[in-house]
Amino acid sequence: MSRVVVVTGAASGIGFATAERFRDLGDTVFGLDIAPTVPDGVTYVECNVGSKAAVDAAIAVCAEGGRIDVLANVAGVVQFGRFETVTEEVFDRTLDVDLKGPFFLMQAALPHLRAAKRSCIVNVSSVAGRIPQPYSAAYSAAKGGLTQLTQALALELSPEGIRVNAVCPGTVATPLVDQVAASYPPDLDARVQDRLLMMLPGRAITPDEIASSIVYLASPEARMITGSVLAFDGGMG
Ligand SMILES: NC(=O)c1ccc[n+]([C@@H]2O[C@H](COP(=O)([O-])OP(=O)(O)OC[C@H]3O[C@@H](n4cnc5c(N)ncnc54)[C@H](O)[C@@H]3O)[C@@H](O)[C@H]2O)c1
Repeated sequence: MSRVVVVTGAASGIGFATAERFRDLGDTVFGLDIAPTVPDGVTYVECNVGSKAAVDAAIAVCAEGGRIDVLANVAGVVQFGRFETVTEEVFDRTLDVDLKGPFFLMQAALPHLRAAKRSCIVNVSSVAGRIPQPYSAAYSAAKGGLTQLTQALALELSPEGIRVNAVCPGTVATPLVDQVAASYPPDLDARVQDRLLMMLPGRAITPDEIASSIVYLASPEARMITGSVLAFDGGMG
């Protein structure tokens, strides 16, 4: 039986690659995003994940068949900069998309995950959600929160057999990285830049590498894995 898979952020980068992978496995895939450019064969559901009302409406569409087997929270935004330059608008947008979004998506999906057998959630956090990083105060706070939320929920839901895991990528070659580079403080120390983004030649991770780990964590082979935080940090953490 094909699984019902919900992937947020499916219009670009890691989410796009993840939606493609699940589609290629024969799953029924819903791609939630503010942009419509999801892969062919994936059903686009317009959703601003920072809005609880929008999340509730989108999950209701995905669950029309009665269940959700996999929820992959991939959508995210980032803006680097010195702590004192973070405006309320940037703080709110970052926390809304990167933390509030996954929180209420998981809450909305829960009854439908319960209705499925062996269901699971995979959250895309970040190395910034595991180890300290400068110039990313709001992002680090949001992703740190998401990592903790993943592990708290893994404990809470394990008696029901619903697994919750996180992946923490380092630098992945996606449009988001260009945004990060554009928001560096102009006088950023090069050594800090290397530590932040592992910008050594050839070290950028591909979206497919992250997608493949998400697909693995959602697979029956990972049935004993919950509350895990899989880091793609080259040993940095
Ligand atoms: N690229 C990296 O180096 C890197 C490193 C660590 C973690 N991550 C995380 O991976 C995830 C995916 O990032 P990516 O690199 O593929 O970025 P990306 O910019 O290529 O894709 C992000 C997607 O999220 C969508 N999105 C943004 N705001 C949204 C909103 N309010 N509602 C719904 N969708 C929204 C965008 O439209 C886009 O399709 C993010 O959570 C990001 O924090 C990325």
